Amino acid sequence: MAILAIESTCDETGASVAQKTRQGVEILSNSVASSATIHQKYGGVVPEVAAREQVKSIIPVIEESLSEAKIQPHDLEAIAVTVGPGLIGSLLIGVETAKTLSLAWNRPLLGVNHMVAHLFANWIVEDEAQLVPEFPTVALIVSGGHTDLLLLKNLHEWIWLGGTRDDAAGECMDKCARILGLPYPGGPNIQASADTVTLKDKKIVLPRPLIHETGYDFSFSGLKTATSKLVQECPTSDFTAQIALELNQAIVDVLVSKTRLAILEFAPKSVVLAGGVSANKLLREKLKQELEKLGVSLFVPRLKYCTDNAAMVAAAALMRPQEVNPLEVSPIPGLEVI
Ligand code: KG4
Ligand code: ZN
Repeated sequence: MAILAIESTCDETGASVAQKTRQGVEILSNSVASSATIHQKYGGVVPEVAAREQVKSIIPVIEESLSEAKIQPHDLEAIAVTVGPGLIGSLLIGVETAKTLSLAWNRPLLGVNHMVAHLFANWIVEDEAQLVPEFPTVALIVSGGHTDLLLLKNLHEWIWLGGTRDDAAGECMDKCARILGLPYPGGPNIQASADTVTLKDKKIVLPRPLIHETGYDFSFSGLKTATSKLVQECPTSDFTAQIALELNQAIVDVLVSKTRLAILEFAPKSVVLAGGVSANKLLREKLKQELEKLGVSLFVPRLKYCTDNAAMVAAAALMRPQEVNPLEVSPIPGLEVI
């Protein structure tokens, strides 16, 4: 039996139909509409604009997803929806739609935390031979709003090891891109700019915040100030790509180093990477190299499941179902990670 999942936390509107397999989740369809290009001229997401686009796209996206999966409403076992954290206007569109469908189609409603959904992208399988993460696993969630390290003992017992004291890694990439004159979203554009050069100017050095501290706290807000100082000192466009490269490396160095620390302390069987920043090429490569040295297997979602999508929401709802009352549930903007 299949479920329909809905995602609308930021500037993406997603719907997906999925079903459980022996060990993971099979995706039958995954539709996403993004308003990212509309926000580009503002250098970041404008919440009201995002929500208004979602009102227009939510029904077509759901219809497309059901039709692609060749599933009728009466074939569905449940409706799943992200209930937070996210932008309140955006969340409201998805949650109210899911509540309405749950009541109209008389199907249970499953509530999903957005960050938990990101993690479960690692349980999406494309064939029966594909492996899923073995517990205990260390999870690194890196998105536009979060940077968190967790120890997952099994599907239900999770321990939050630490997170950012200020900006998330993705937020830092987005704001530094703006300082560098690169378009929104910052992460992929910093990566693309960094890819055009090799580091040759010794003047371009950014700090690796908290890298030498024990514990699992992160701090990325100072990198914005440091980047802005570098731009003032080296204002020519030649330096933009050099700074982008150093920034990408600084963020990746910190993320890899803290993950390594958690592996040494907790000896997990696997590490799972998740969230929009997990699409970062350097992060995926560096983490893979480090984990090979330590003999721990790394799981990263396929690129299309790294940034916001509803397939990961379906995966979380199927792996860890949490039924909510459609007459009572409301979106929660600041919901904690577990
Ligand atoms: O998970 P996500 O789609 O939305 C949130 O839950 O926040 O993450 C969006 C973040 C943005 O900050 C974006 O710049 C970043 O993910 N991102 C990347 C890459 N692709 C997206 N950061 C670094 N490298 C990338 N390739
Ligand atoms: Zn996200």
